[in-house]
Amino acid sequence: MFLVRPPGVYRVDTDTSLLLDVLREGGYADGRRVLDIGTGTGALALAAARAGAASVTAVDLSLRSVAAAWLNSRLHRVACIVRCGDLFGPVAGQYFDLILANPPYVPAATNILPRHRISRCWDGGLDGRAVLDRVCTEGPALLARDGVMLLVHSAVCDEDITMKRFADAGLHAEVLTRCTVAFGPVMRARAAMLQARGLVQPRQRDEELVVIGAHRVC
Ligand SMILES: C[S@@+](CC[C@H](N)C(=O)[O-])C[C@H]1O[C@@H](n2cnc3c(N)ncnc32)[C@H](O)[C@@H]1O
Repeated sequence: MFLVRPPGVYRVDTDTSLLLDVLREGGYADGRRVLDIGTGTGALALAAARAGAASVTAVDLSLRSVAAAWLNSRLHRVACIVRCGDLFGPVAGQYFDLILANPPYVPAATNILPRHRISRCWDGGLDGRAVLDRVCTEGPALLARDGVMLLVHSAVCDEDITMKRFADAGLHAEVLTRCTVAFGPVMRARAAMLQARGLVQPRQRDEELVVIGAHRVC
């Protein structure tokens, strides 16, 4: 699918594609009210709309991403509400049947999260979990009764912690799929720092991506 991507907006990558595959193959969007958190170009939001979602809302912190997602939804003639703001803030008080998230998750040199630089798309604080943990703890409050969250991240930031965060929020979570990918340029540049912190093995140059599905335990 052709997507307009202005400078500073995340390019669809392997993590996006892995989540897209789960979304399509699992038929998760059909007839559902969908929220795409950290939408970037809107790739996931548009795929959900095309897969028959009843409604799609897309949120991003970045104005450029919001503009790109809005433009892409118009180009592809799909209905998508696009909001600018911090995670779930712009949709507070609403409920969704499906929440999609490909948040920033790469461990960084500091806990300061960039707001305006493109590293906003991947910097996840020292352990990579600064935004991820918020998605796991704040997201469940917006899930409708039979709602599902689909989340993708690197195993470098520890899927067991994600499972625990979801369990603490009353959700049952499981890994739906995983795949091994070679380090991209950001991970390559940070490999020595990650190794020094014990987050990757010496000479490790690939990482596992995991898609986690979580739903409320009745
Ligand atoms: C890894 S990119 C994913 C983009 C798109 N969903 C995809 O899969 O191609 C992460 C996105 O989250 C956005 N983001 C980062 N922090 C955010 C926050 N606190 N609230 C909303 N969006 C945020 C970034 O601007 C970026 O577009």
